[in-house]
Amino acid sequence: METTPLGATGERVSALCLGTMYFGSSVDRETSFDILDRYYEAGGRFLDTANIYATWVDGYDEPESEPLVGEWLDDCDVRAEMTVATKVGFGYGDVDRELDPETIRQEVERSRERLGVDTIDLLYAHVDDPATPQTDVMGTFADIVDDGAVRHLGASNFPAWRIARANRIAAERDWPRFECVQPRFSYLIPDRDADFDAQLPTTDELVDYCDQADLTVLPYSPTLRGCYGRDDRSIPEGYVRTENRLKVRLVSELAERKGVDGNAVALAWMVGRDQPTVPVVGCSSVDQLEQNLAALDVSFTDEEQRRLDAIESYGFDEWDLREA
Ligand SMILES: NC(=O)c1ccc[n+]([C@@H]2O[C@H](COP(=O)([O-])OP(=O)(O)OC[C@H]3O[C@@H](n4cnc5c(N)ncnc54)[C@H](OP(=O)(O)O)[C@@H]3O)[C@@H](O)[C@H]2O)c1
Repeated sequence: METTPLGATGERVSALCLGTMYFGSSVDRETSFDILDRYYEAGGRFLDTANIYATWVDGYDEPESEPLVGEWLDDCDVRAEMTVATKVGFGYGDVDRELDPETIRQEVERSRERLGVDTIDLLYAHVDDPATPQTDVMGTFADIVDDGAVRHLGASNFPAWRIARANRIAAERDWPRFECVQPRFSYLIPDRDADFDAQLPTTDELVDYCDQADLTVLPYSPTLRGCYGRDDRSIPEGYVRTENRLKVRLVSELAERKGVDGNAVALAWMVGRDQPTVPVVGCSSVDQLEQNLAALDVSFTDEEQRRLDAIESYGFDEWDLREA
C-alpha cells in the first residue's frame, strides 16, 4: 500500500488507516479479525482506536476495541510493523471528559495495557478541553513522549485556532507538537448549522492551517456510513443540501464509469487531495473493506478532478490570503 507523510515527523503511514471503533462490540470478534487480516494482507499498517471504543454500544460498558487490536497484534506477531493510534479525552465509565494531566497519564497507561504495547505510536487528544490550560496539556504530552510511552501527537475535534495555539506553546518550549488532525471530514460538506455533538467538522481554516503548518489530515467517518454507494443510506442529516445532491450524483456517475463502489470514489478523492490526507476507514465486513481498498486504484482524469472539486471545496483561494 502507498504511504503518506505523517506531519513533519519524517515518518510515513499507510494511505488508508483502518478504523476499529466497533471491533469487538457491534462488529464481532471473528469478523474484526478477518477485516484486520485482510487489511494487513493488502499492505495496510495503520490502525486507529480509542480508549472509549465502543463503550456507548448497548451491552459493552468496557472498552473492547483496544484489547481486540492488542490481541490481534500479538497473535499475528506484527506489532513492530504497525502504526497504532489511540485517543484520550472523552469520558466513559468513571473517566471524565477532560484533558487533565492526571487523566491523560492514567488513560495512556490503561491504553498501553489494553493494547499490550510499550509505546503508542500516535496519541490523539480526542476532544478539546477549554478548562485545562493548554500549557498543562502540551506539557503533559511532552513528558509522556519523553518517557517513551507515546511517539507522536495528534488532535481530533479541535477548532483550528486551538491546534495552532497548542502548537505555538509547544514550539516555544521545544515540546512535541500535534503532527496531524482527525476531523469529521468527507467529500460532502455539512450544513453550517449541523449539530454533531462533540464531533467537529472540518473548516476552511483547519484545512488552511494544516496546509501551512504541514499537518496531515485524517478524515473520520469518511464514507458517512457508506452513503456514497448504498441505496439504503441517503444523504445523512446535516448534509442535505443542493451541492451535496450534485456531489452524490457525480460520485455515482464516476463509480459506474470506473466499475467501483461510490464509497471508493469518495475515498479516492480524499486520498488524492494535494494536502496529505489519510482517511480513517470504518467497515463492518471484509466485503466493505475490499470495496474501500479499491479506492487506492482509482485515478481521475483532469476533467473528472475539475468536476469533483468545482461543486464546493474546503480551503481558501490562494490569492485571497497570500497575494492580496
Ligand atoms: N475522532 C473521532 O471523534 C472519531 C469519530 C468517529 C470515528 N472515528 C474513527 O473513524 C473510523 C471510521 O468512522 P465511521 O465508522 O464513522 O466511518 P464511516 O465511513 O462514516 O462509516 C463506516 C460504516 O459505513 C458503512 N460502510 C463503509 N464502507 C462501506 C462500503 N464500501 N459499502 C457499504 N457500506 C459501507 C458501514 O456501515 P454498516 O456497518 O452499517 O454496514 C461501516 O460500518 C472509526 O472506526 C474510528 O476509528 C473517529
